[in-house]
Amino acid sequence: MQHFPDDPRQIEALLDFYASAGVDCFPGEDPVDWFALTRQQAEQRNQARMQATSPAAPIAVSPGPGAVRSQPVPGLPPAAPHSPASDSSHPAVLPDGEAIAMARDLAARAASLDDLQACLAAFEGCNLKLTAKKLVFADGNPEARLMFVGEAPGRDEDLQGKPFVGRSGQLLDRMLGAIGLDRSSAYIANVVPWRPPGNRTPTPQETEICKPFIVRQIELVNPDVLVFLGAASAKTLLGVQDGIRKMRGRWMTYPGGGKEIAAIATYHPAYLLRSPLEKRLSWRDFLSIRNRLADKTLD
Ligand code: URA
Repeated sequence: MQHFPDDPRQIEALLDFYASAGVDCFPGEDPVDWFALTRQQAEQRNQARMQATSPAAPIAVSPGPGAVRSQPVPGLPPAAPHSPASDSSHPAVLPDGEAIAMARDLAARAASLDDLQACLAAFEGCNLKLTAKKLVFADGNPEARLMFVGEAPGRDEDLQGKPFVGRSGQLLDRMLGAIGLDRSSAYIANVVPWRPPGNRTPTPQETEICKPFIVRQIELVNPDVLVFLGAASAKTLLGVQDGIRKMRGRWMTYPGGGKEIAAIATYHPAYLLRSPLEKRLSWRDFLSIRNRLADKTLD
């Protein structure tokens, strides 16, 4: 068992160390058999799914007690160190096909962006919600012809509940400004709407669970031009395997909302902050985006 110091300053320093190392929650000292709990939850999810897909069910599903959001788990610490995006404590679930299927059902039934946001806020199938402070749904103008899709929120986004508001977001704003645009002429979202703890990369399962929601979000926004910020979002949504160096700056098409949307990948602003020399290539991409938007024909 680990010995904790008595001196509050040492405790504070230790907590600082944990936080800077990316520790976002304290799982407790007693082992928990998550697999046993998950089997039980899988049955509960099945029931919830059947309720959610019945014709009488409302679109913005808020699972009641005993549905997806189930009882507190024995062994789970009662209080998290912060208020998570989830409004009540619920156990972690092992991401599985059912969570993905449920996400697909819910997302497909959202008739508007408000519905979709409500669906996501009520959705308990992704464990990232347990550690995130806020749902990061979108920013900008839902009527915009230009839509950006990033990978997942970071710390600043998690605190504010808006995508791209940290240093990389400020760079994105400057890049938009350079082609005469701002957030009132663009819509911004992420593939994964909850911050992964310590800014780690979302797992493939987390990405798959969240994917139906961003797919529906793109359909509902129905942009003329879609920009993937970084390779991760392009790979998830276009199914391409190329690295960003090869992929960036090439016009592709994304099938969304019954039409082929002009799509392009460019460097993620966080990468540009680390590799400023690459900004000249991003500048080319942004000029190309501006030209594409100006092109009335947009085939
Ligand atoms: N990086 C992303 O991919 N999305 C954000 O919202 C912020 C940083």
